[in-house]
Amino acid sequence: MTLFPGITKFLHGGDYSPEQWPPRQWLEDIGKMPEARADTLTLGIFAWSALEPADGVYELGWMGEVLDALAERGRHAILATPSAAQPAWMSRAHPEILRAPEGGKRNRHGMRMNFCISSDYYRRKCAAINQALALRFGSHPALIAWHISNEFSQPCYCPACEEAFRAWLQQRYGSLDALNRRWSTAFWSHTYSAWEQIEAPGADGEMSCEALWINWKRFASDQFASFIRNEAGPLRKHSPSVPITTNLMGTHEPIDYWRLAAELDFVSMDAYPAFDARPEMVDAGIEHSFVYDLMRSFKRDRPWVLMETTPSSANWMPFMKLKRPGVHRLAALQSIAHGSDAVLYFQWRQGLGGREKFHGAVLDHTGSSATRVFAETADVGQALERIDFLQGSVPVAEAAVIYDWEVRWAIGASCGPARDHKDYLPTCLAHYRPLWEHGISADVIQSTEDFSPYRLLIAPMLYLLRPGVAERLEHFVQEGGTLVGTYWSGIADEDDRLFSTPFPGPLRGVFGLENEETDILYPDESVPVAAREGNALGLRGPWSASTFCAQIRSHGADILARYDGEFYAGSPALTRHTAGRGEAYYIGFRSGPDFLGEFYGKLCARLDLPRAVPVDLPAGVTARIRKTSETTVLFLLNFSAERREIPWAMAGSVDALTGETAGRSVVIPPHSSRVLRWPAEA
Ligand code: GLA
Ligand code: ZN
Repeated sequence: MTLFPGITKFLHGGDYSPEQWPPRQWLEDIGKMPEARADTLTLGIFAWSALEPADGVYELGWMGEVLDALAERGRHAILATPSAAQPAWMSRAHPEILRAPEGGKRNRHGMRMNFCISSDYYRRKCAAINQALALRFGSHPALIAWHISNEFSQPCYCPACEEAFRAWLQQRYGSLDALNRRWSTAFWSHTYSAWEQIEAPGADGEMSCEALWINWKRFASDQFASFIRNEAGPLRKHSPSVPITTNLMGTHEPIDYWRLAAELDFVSMDAYPAFDARPEMVDAGIEHSFVYDLMRSFKRDRPWVLMETTPSSANWMPFMKLKRPGVHRLAALQSIAHGSDAVLYFQWRQGLGGREKFHGAVLDHTGSSATRVFAETADVGQALERIDFLQGSVPVAEAAVIYDWEVRWAIGASCGPARDHKDYLPTCLAHYRPLWEHGISADVIQSTEDFSPYRLLIAPMLYLLRPGVAERLEHFVQEGGTLVGTYWSGIADEDDRLFSTPFPGPLRGVFGLENEETDILYPDESVPVAAREGNALGLRGPWSASTFCAQIRSHGADILARYDGEFYAGSPALTRHTAGRGEAYYIGFRSGPDFLGEFYGKLCARLDLPRAVPVDLPAGVTARIRKTSETTVLFLLNFSAERREIPWAMAGSVDALTGETAGRSVVIPPHSSRVLRWPAEA
């Protein structure tokens, strides 16, 4: 589905701040867009003091001029609401709008995202300026989308937020008795006898009640969602046909983005991958594929938008290493391969002053287009035009990895079992990696999503079980799905209270086992694991277990591998349980790519999961398919520093960027990309 009515190309462009430049500059900067095959500018993100220089005094004319100039040239605008940075006069007159970080002491004016998300006054001022913008520009021909605020990131801990938290808790629990029970407050005499006693968590106060911490994060996420709803209200009313987004930041820990995505018409995100031409660049490539798949999974029926990235380097990085030739195109095509319908930058033109004056931009600080960065950007613009027909299509996946914010919070909040090595997110990435290496498309979902679109479901460290999840996993397997789970799963309920049955609690049935204890190893220790002769997957091993070694007792599960050391030598380390028409694998130990590579390689082959190309990919390379009913497009992305060759090419395929007929193999230069296309029916 097309995100922007009437637009049939990928968007290319970026943030532009006319308020930082004299008006005579605007036309010149906009005039350089065609040369880079750019069509879209995002305006007004940090322009509140220019749009409302004094309380209630709106000066929108200049924005109108810029929008008119874009429309006259057939270009588009994404218009931001300015709430990311309130004017100084507002903080002065209403200090209660300032954000209070953990500890509850309000900040002074400055920086950005420095406002309270619960403040009535701030919400009213946001709604008022949004209404003014929507009334004036809501049906402007240049306008294609609304961009609410910018990168919501940290909650506010002020008294107004605490009060809203208490109301939220009353709604959720009904009675204080229920809350006390479910939060285990009898521990350390933490029983509350009045709602007013409940404070926000913090290092100077309550940090020993995990349920408080997790629920505070749930509340904060809901409060951001309601902040967005407040901002969206006037936009939806006065500009009803223009879609709304806000820019997310991947797996950003403090906010459950599923709750924000529900408020948006389309999802967008900002990505600044460290594609620095070092060996770690492969890891960064995998990580970005994962977050892009997450973005796509928020709304599986439509593309998403890469709202910001840098055409060169970002000034907040410790080292502003230049992107090597070709790397920018690799990065841009990676987002498209994963379902983005845009490549937009921070920023179109580098500023002369302010904290971001050294940040990369398409036009440098002199405004010149005769630069290497501009040429590489124009090259991306040209590449996008050649595959524009893909716009609106969505890559599909038959596998999914569960990455769940609530699980992450709960694992993080608990004291134990491996203080600095719990590593929930890295574990999700480690399980995603083998799919990436095989060119197998995967969604990244939360545990409450519908599992029915998938044949393979990977649920690493599913420590916290939200209501109904265990039952739905069981149903998924009964109906023929394949589930993979690991150690440290099925431990606690949504208030982080341990299940009173043996672990993995309500998941014992589906995995056919019990996990009595978990041995935690020091970083320099490991335990060998040996495959069992004749195991169902044909695994060979041996491998080594690190950090987590679950002690498993099978209740009906087949044993595929056993520990081969320690006092538990001979006991199960990897099991498979058949339930109904499907099967559930339980990996009892933490492992490196040696095991996960072999395990998922065999499992995916057994399930015959579609790979983008039917041959093994060289190291550091992944492949993705995006297609329309007429044309299939193959993206080959090489994050390694080596020239890679794939001894395969679809008969009749052509290089989508050059039009040349593909040979019998495809060569991908270091840190580079190739795109092939062929007729869909071929
Ligand atoms: C974020 C912000 C932008 C800008 C860039 C710099 O993505 O949204 O305003 O600060 O970072 O990389
Ligand atoms: Zn607040």
